[in-house]
Amino acid sequence: MSMMLKSALLVCFFILLLNEASVQDIVQGFIRDSALLPCRLETGQLKVNTAHWRYNDSKNVYDILNGQGTTKEQDAEYKGRTETFPAEYSKGNFSLRLGNLQKSDEGSYCCFIPNAEFDLNKCINLQVREKPRGIQEKPGSNSGVETTAERIVSLLFPLFSATVLLCV
Ligand SMILES: *[C@@H]1O[C@H](CO)[C@@H](O)[C@H](O)[C@H]1NC(C)=O
Ligand SMILES: *[C@@H]1O[C@H](CO)[C@@H](O)[C@H](O)[C@H]1NC(C)=O
Repeated sequence: MSMMLKSALLVCFFILLLNEASVQDIVQGFIRDSALLPCRLETGQLKVNTAHWRYNDSKNVYDILNGQGTTKEQDAEYKGRTETFPAEYSKGNFSLRLGNLQKSDEGSYCCFIPNAEFDLNKCINLQVREKPRGIQEKPGSNSGVETTAERIVSLLFPLFSATVLLCV
């Protein structure tokens, strides 16, 4: 195989890898089930106790203000469907559970953490599917989180094998 083709393949490989790494984390849930949308500060970062969950950068899903969860300003469509975990706030865990999922819930959920030093903005892409028949799941169980890292690994293996096969 020519040197040029090998180089081209290698470039392709890294472009794909970079693209994949910048994609939002995806959470998949099933209709009428709930999904856990993760938002966690790495330990060692500054103490914070305020976080804002927003849908598509606009709708108010949930607010955590000075360590208190509130649904005062919450958009009506999330009424009675949200839960956060106050015991976890001090660990920097502001994850949100959204219940009774509907197809219309699909989209981007961002957790904004304002801070004097830096603003953290963690976004999750929620996908909602019809539950496959015959699968019994515990109520409230998370339907599946695929992290960027897992996707990189699942992408890396076939891509790497292909590159090796073609080059050898
Ligand atoms: C955050 O808290 C939720 C609820 O207790 C838990 O399910 C989840 O695993 C926690 N996330 C992390 C990263 O610790
Ligand atoms: C939210 O964003 C998603 C993806 O861009 C879009 O498909 C959906 O229609 C939006 N939903 C609302 C209610 O704006």
